[in-house]
Amino acid sequence: MRVLVVGSGGREHALAWALSRSPDVERLLVAPGNGGTAAIAQNLPIAASDVEALAAAAQAHRVDLVVVGPEEPLARGLADVLWERGVPVFGPTAVAARIESSKAWAKELMAAAGVPTARAERYQEISLALRALDAHTYPLVVKASGLAAGKGAVICADRSEAERTLRWMMQEGGLGEAGREVLIEEYLTGREVSFLVVTDGETTYPLIPACDYKRIGEGDTGPNTGGMGAYAPVPWVDDATQGEIMERVIGPALGELRRRGIRYRGVLYAGLMLTAEGPKVLEFNCRFGDPETQAILPLLACDLLPLLSAAATGKLAEVPSPTWRPGVCVTVVIASAGYPGTYRTGYPISGLDRIPDDVLVFHAGTRLERDGTLVTAGGRVLALSATGHDFQSARQRVYAALELIEFEGMTYRRDIAAREVEPRTIPVAR
Ligand code: AMP
Ligand code: GLY
Repeated sequence: MRVLVVGSGGREHALAWALSRSPDVERLLVAPGNGGTAAIAQNLPIAASDVEALAAAAQAHRVDLVVVGPEEPLARGLADVLWERGVPVFGPTAVAARIESSKAWAKELMAAAGVPTARAERYQEISLALRALDAHTYPLVVKASGLAAGKGAVICADRSEAERTLRWMMQEGGLGEAGREVLIEEYLTGREVSFLVVTDGETTYPLIPACDYKRIGEGDTGPNTGGMGAYAPVPWVDDATQGEIMERVIGPALGELRRRGIRYRGVLYAGLMLTAEGPKVLEFNCRFGDPETQAILPLLACDLLPLLSAAATGKLAEVPSPTWRPGVCVTVVIASAGYPGTYRTGYPISGLDRIPDDVLVFHAGTRLERDGTLVTAGGRVLALSATGHDFQSARQRVYAALELIEFEGMTYRRDIAAREVEPRTIPVAR
């Protein structure tokens, strides 16, 4: 098969890497890709947001399957356009992608389906939103309804912070169109987990649960980022909890979509808080997680291609559910100094040739210069993943490899998956 992966991050490198190992992938294209995908696939210089050009390229290259990484092209209708042209695509249509692109719509869907989630009110008028603040207890969460690249949720400790956040989103346009409508949401406590399933709308296979680290700083401090690390599976999400998530969250959500005539094909990603009252949804995403994918796929024991291809074409029941290698995987993201704020790019990256074979290097913001030098080209630059029979050994491997890499201003969190290691064995090399 000829496969086109859309996107340019670590997630897309991991997807391309897993697909490149399939005996049935005859040609692998990535648009636009990065310095890492260039080594295992052909990069096409097309932006992930350019729906028309992507569809034209899929046709020109006679692609049999398009796998869409990021949410933006899905929200813009890339899957719809590809289906119109007869190109199978793994990823939901624009209407189905609203489960991520409109948090207000997702809340309404969850209410109709009886999916447990944080209580929320939606506002399009700032005066009404401000008035509502008086009746609330704190902390509370102010969320932009639209797509905000991970920056749309602000946990507000008190009324003045909530007011500032509302004014920033609704009045000052701090998040552009995405913040014109907001949710004021109940603050949930518990343990957070990313639960991803592959579905064709009828048949649904869960992937192993994962945890990601959203804050830039160790100990979960500082601003939110796209994700600074991840690990999988999650020891405290046992089979019974996974069953409960399938039964109370995933099943009802997909069922409600079906009732509305929407056939969801792709990954449905539930960001969950496991509370004292059971799992509650923080958000749905319409795609694979980044960097969860870099921690999940190294543990996949079967071929990824049939899974994605069957889900795209509505034949998921015809392929077996995914199988997994024993053990765990820990992924650490290396970022540019200044990220998630402003940062500089173009710094040469060294040491990749010294990374041992048992550590996977997924590129995110990298670019291969004409002279063959690999340079930084984004905020999140690389993600390193190592598997191991337990978290201690996987952490040891990944952090030892991180020591070998160098570029100006590189930064990473040293505490990824540390909480899964017993206190007597903190093996972090500093
Ligand atoms: P989101 O953009 O909705 O994924 O939110 C980003 C992060 O904010 C989540 O990963 C949580 O850590 C946190 N968060 C979002 N909503 C809530 C909530 N209702 N209660 C507590 N924390 C939340
Ligand atoms: N890691 C969070 C996300 O992909 O949305």
